[in-house]
Amino acid sequence: MELTFEKPAIRLLENEHRYLAYLAEEWHPIVLRLEEEEDLHTARVLLGTLRERLERFRIPLKKHTDKEEEHFFPVLGGYIGFEQGPLVGIQEEHREIEAYLDHFMHRTEGNPDLLLLDEIRAAARDAGEAFEVLTVNRVKEESVLFPIAEARILPKQMLGLYERMNTMIV
Ligand SMILES: [Fe+2]
Repeated sequence: MELTFEKPAIRLLENEHRYLAYLAEEWHPIVLRLEEEEDLHTARVLLGTLRERLERFRIPLKKHTDKEEEHFFPVLGGYIGFEQGPLVGIQEEHREIEAYLDHFMHRTEGNPDLLLLDEIRAAARDAGEAFEVLTVNRVKEESVLFPIAEARILPKQMLGLYERMNTMIV
């Protein structure tokens, strides 16, 4: 997929969004399937796979959101403020995504062969919610924060930001 932003620091974040969206496509179809699955044995097997993939997914996701919160948001906040405006809601969404994923992990802990279809569906719904918030969050960051950042952050600060954020999330 083509990248939209030009400044290296913002492009780097956009690139991470692409990567995370690509990874999410490895588990989101399982969520959708679990919402429909009638066979308990199949559902348990699928849930095991979903859990494994989500455990892996959380690592680069956390590195990405940490990077935004420790480096990008504080710099951007210097221009647009923290108390009100888009940064508040966007950070809350990061917490929401984590909470849904925590909830999923909690619900699916232990022996999957003890879970019933209803419990599996409830867990899958948490993973589905995490996906929805993640998608909204990415779109908001790219349509609201990134354009403001490119237009307003001064070159020297942008360069410093790039240097601090130029680390791998995998
Ligand atoms: Fe992001």
